[in-house]
Amino acid sequence: MKQVTYEGLTFEPYISKEEIAARVENLGRDIVRDCSGKQPLFICVLNGAFPFANDLFRATEELDSEITFIRLKSYEGTSTSGAVKEVLGLNENIEGRTIIIVEDIIDTGNTIYRLVKDLEKANPADIKIATLLFKPDALVRPVKPDYVGFSIPTKFIIGYGLDLNEKGRNLNDIYILKED
Ligand code: HPA
Ligand code: MG
Repeated sequence: MKQVTYEGLTFEPYISKEEIAARVENLGRDIVRDCSGKQPLFICVLNGAFPFANDLFRATEELDSEITFIRLKSYEGTSTSGAVKEVLGLNENIEGRTIIIVEDIIDTGNTIYRLVKDLEKANPADIKIATLLFKPDALVRPVKPDYVGFSIPTKFIIGYGLDLNEKGRNLNDIYILKED
């Protein structure tokens, strides 16, 4: 792992792919334990959550579960815009279902808060939130994720799905913005 640069910003190694893989395996085991006998529907929030959702979903193969994908957007550059807009909707009927929302990161919580509110209107049996990363100090909404990969400080990170203006998503490790 070495430093990487995008748009003139330098990022340094923060969480290795081995650490990510081990943590995701553990979260998968927790979900299998909590959802035994259920048929959860994983809802992957694109674009950022796709690597995490891929690994997490496969870490729950003992469950008879399904996965679907939605798209929302709330971030421009390295600061939050506050505006959350739904671009690609959900086609499944989620009434009575156990939902596991899969997010790459919970920062202010605005995106996930709005998403949970929207999904609740369709009367699912239960909504659980799995997020790879959580910035508890940045939270401005009453949001409590059920499955958290890593709690991190309020710093900008990229890699394993997380982007800087769509770049860096294919990094296997997670990197943090270097401060000078
Ligand atoms: N990196 C990339 N995208 C994000 C972040 C971050 O730290 N926080 C919220 N969206
Ligand atoms: Mg982004």
